[in-house]
Amino acid sequence: MNALALVAFALWALFMRYLPSIIQFLRLKRFAATIPGPSIGELIARSKKGQILEWLHSLRKKHGPVFRIWLGRDLMVFFSDPEDVKQLLSNNTLLKKSRSYELAEAWLGKGLLTSSDDAWHRRRKLLTPAFHFRILSEFKEPIEENCKIFIRKLREKANGEQFDIYPYITLFALDAILETAMGIKKNAQMQSESEYVKAVQTICRVMHKQSFSFWQRFEIIFRFTNSYKERTEALKILHGETKRVIKLRRQMLQDTNIQTMADAEKSDDVGGKRRLAFLDMLLISQQEGGGLTDQEIREEVDTFLFEGHDTTSSAIAFCIYLLSQHREIQQRAYEEASALRGHEKESMRYMEAVIKETLRLYPSVPFYSRKVQEDLQLGNITVPKGASVSTLAYMVHRDEKYYPEPEKFDPERFLAAEKDLHPFAFVAFSAGPRNCIGQKFAMLELKLSLSSLLRSYEFLPAEGFKPKALAELVMKSGNGVQIRLRPRI
Ligand code: HEM
Repeated sequence: MNALALVAFALWALFMRYLPSIIQFLRLKRFAATIPGPSIGELIARSKKGQILEWLHSLRKKHGPVFRIWLGRDLMVFFSDPEDVKQLLSNNTLLKKSRSYELAEAWLGKGLLTSSDDAWHRRRKLLTPAFHFRILSEFKEPIEENCKIFIRKLREKANGEQFDIYPYITLFALDAILETAMGIKKNAQMQSESEYVKAVQTICRVMHKQSFSFWQRFEIIFRFTNSYKERTEALKILHGETKRVIKLRRQMLQDTNIQTMADAEKSDDVGGKRRLAFLDMLLISQQEGGGLTDQEIREEVDTFLFEGHDTTSSAIAFCIYLLSQHREIQQRAYEEASALRGHEKESMRYMEAVIKETLRLYPSVPFYSRKVQEDLQLGNITVPKGASVSTLAYMVHRDEKYYPEPEKFDPERFLAAEKDLHPFAFVAFSAGPRNCIGQKFAMLELKLSLSSLLRSYEFLPAEGFKPKALAELVMKSGNGVQIRLRPRI
């Protein structure tokens, strides 16, 4: 009898423990029934087939600007109307990332991209000064140095034959972020293959598969898959590189006897030049006692290395592709690049429009999501606590109301009408408190690299080539970016 009472009590306690989650799940189910979206069967079929971006496109067409998908037991509601997006991104209480970002934690830990609440606030405050415009102006020179190498490396391919330019771009972008933000000269461009870049590709592919797989979102199942083995191998390389970078830079600070910000101000000899890297600031503020722990620094280095090179690589690559397809636009960008050489930071209105138009069609982060922690009113929809909401930038940017003929590449949209554009109709860098901290850095790197490339080469189309855009963590072209190059002189 006693044993029976004990079992009954245990079951009751278990039930009570999970009762709030059960109630929350039932509320989500009730809410989901009022919003259109595909069945779980469709998700399973689609995750096997891939082509998630195409699928999201078709769901937007079929269901309108708001639809939902069940990702395992997580309910994700996608929004693509700029008015809804404004409510989402300006909301100061909607800052927690959705559960999908937890998949990235094995790699990025609780870095700026993945963290939430007080931890995020603290880090954002600490890291923001590292991207101040004064610091950015010091980055111009090392980025330009790397552009020169990039252009030299491309010479071997500038014979009119088609080739995939993507690997060259990623190595350039990796060198640029390593040298500016981490203060390390890696010269990845001088190697033909980069283990680090390959490992990033592997882990992004694995995470993407996992986030849209009904089964692999359950960690216990994921651990028995080949993808898990691939992720483990990639993590060894990625974390190994981060540790190496931190160790090297710490040693450099020690060798130059820099222990405080005041020492750094006085010194003119950090790694040869008086340029304080982002990583130096983290290491110095740790030495001063108010900064991040070793583990936290590693997480930020992982985050910034990844965000700082993969996003810009994607943007440069799609921009080159689009310019290769549009001779007149390319010619106008070339003329501006020639006339404004050396003034890429301050001006280049046309190039800026070309870059924005590229990011409109191919936003490097095609969607991004938040977790709803309290019921959220959006127009006449009440999204219940426990759901996730996602800004589908890829489709916001294809809204015919703001972008007539949305598939047409037309930088004029960002010249003539920008002031009339809805402020949330272009959200490639997100907006509001959790916007992209590297936006200015990215625009600088994109302007510098694209204008140097244009001054040296003409981009010609590769016959029959069309990129297959994949919505991994960062949008990529699954079949590379094939073009032909012709030297300008
Ligand atoms: C074309 C280039 C880039 C694009 C389109 C882009 C886009 C974005 C977007 C959409 C977000 C919001 C993501 C979310 O809410 O989940 C974001 C966040 C972030 N980006 Fe970028 N990014 C670019 C370049 C960079 C660069 C160069 C860096 C670093 C140097 C960087 C660092 C970050 C970080 C750390 C966050 C997280 C910010 C936070 O949550 O407080 N990004 N980016």
